[in-house]
Amino acid sequence: MFEYRKENRYFAQITGSLELMVKKELMELGATDIEISRSGCHFCADDRTLYKIILMAKTPQRILAPLVKFDCFSTKYLGILCYKDIHWSQLFSVDETFGIMSNVKDSIITNSLYASQVMKDAICHQFILKYERRPDFSIKEAHILFNLHIDDNKATISLDLTGSSMHKRGYKTQSIKSSIQETIASALFRETNWDGETKLLDFMCGSGTFLGEAILNYCQLPNDLIKENNHLKRLPNFNEKLWNEVKAEIEKNKKVLPKNMIFGNDISPTAVVATKENLAKLPYGDRVIVENRNFKDIKFVKDCTIIINPPYGNTYDDQNTLLEMYKDIGAFFREKCQNCQAFVLAGDPKLIDAIRIKPEWEKTIRTGPVNSSFAKFVLRG
Ligand SMILES: C[S@@+](CC[C@H](N)C(=O)[O-])C[C@H]1O[C@@H](n2cnc3c(N)ncnc32)[C@H](O)[C@@H]1O
Repeated sequence: MFEYRKENRYFAQITGSLELMVKKELMELGATDIEISRSGCHFCADDRTLYKIILMAKTPQRILAPLVKFDCFSTKYLGILCYKDIHWSQLFSVDETFGIMSNVKDSIITNSLYASQVMKDAICHQFILKYERRPDFSIKEAHILFNLHIDDNKATISLDLTGSSMHKRGYKTQSIKSSIQETIASALFRETNWDGETKLLDFMCGSGTFLGEAILNYCQLPNDLIKENNHLKRLPNFNEKLWNEVKAEIEKNKKVLPKNMIFGNDISPTAVVATKENLAKLPYGDRVIVENRNFKDIKFVKDCTIIINPPYGNTYDDQNTLLEMYKDIGAFFREKCQNCQAFVLAGDPKLIDAIRIKPEWEKTIRTGPVNSSFAKFVLRG
């Protein structure tokens, strides 16, 4: 019996340090026994809940179904186990293309690429023995994708139920420099608890990621809106009828985005074009009003939830200009925002300090190689 079947236990892979946010979303979607570990959350879900998570979760990067777990101290053993103990033809046919993503940490095996090569060769040899030919291998074009994870000499081979990273929702075809990943934007957006009772504004919207994720979360739109996911169907016990039921339920719960609720703005005309093009791919995207101005020229903001990710940089000159910009953001908050709450993602806590308003809370978030600060300000005006 495959490992995931024993307790209906799966793994949600995460970018950065969003574990608590992902845990909260998984819980809301019905997952149980959620346990945070390095780079993700283990969770239990019955089939209905799993399908809902695959279709609706906006914060994880990938969902994996563990097939086997074993102690692994050498690539030789990895090869033997993959050749002898797993019946690959139960999972895919020799005419299909398979892929392997791998990562290794704190183990005797240190080269993840070599480990996946060993696993790939073992799979091919098993097929050759049975069919006298081997399946094709590709990560990008795989019909079925496996994940090999070795941590502290314990290996897990999983089926990747999302096929590609879940941040690739399909609507963001136009990007700009310093654009934020969709899964991270969703995790941060969900921290605002925005429920449509106030207006929503990103006055430094870049390519419109916060705005796109606001639509997806508010309207309760599924992840396969633009890009279909066929990888979940590779689970040996996949239930098409149940899948269609879950999809129908999601369809029924979708919400309409009223007009004049979501607003974007950016000083760069290129960013405004990118935002409009990206949002046009989403339902109600044309209801978002996107303007092209310096935020300082916005006259007044009332009863609004603001979420922004201002520029950040590393050089000394940049730092001075940046500190000035964050000072200006603080002045804008104080002088022009009435009865608003503002959420700011900044590359550095010093930049949050430069706003010169005491945040209600401030969290350190790892969104990539560096730590960022995410802060909430309550602006009574
Ligand atoms: C880090 S990017 C935002 C990225 C965005 N969250 C995304 O995912 O694409 C910062 C944005 O602030 C804009 N910006 C910089 N100064 C501005 C100003 N004074 N007024 C309005 N927008 C500004 C930049 O043009 C840039 O698009």
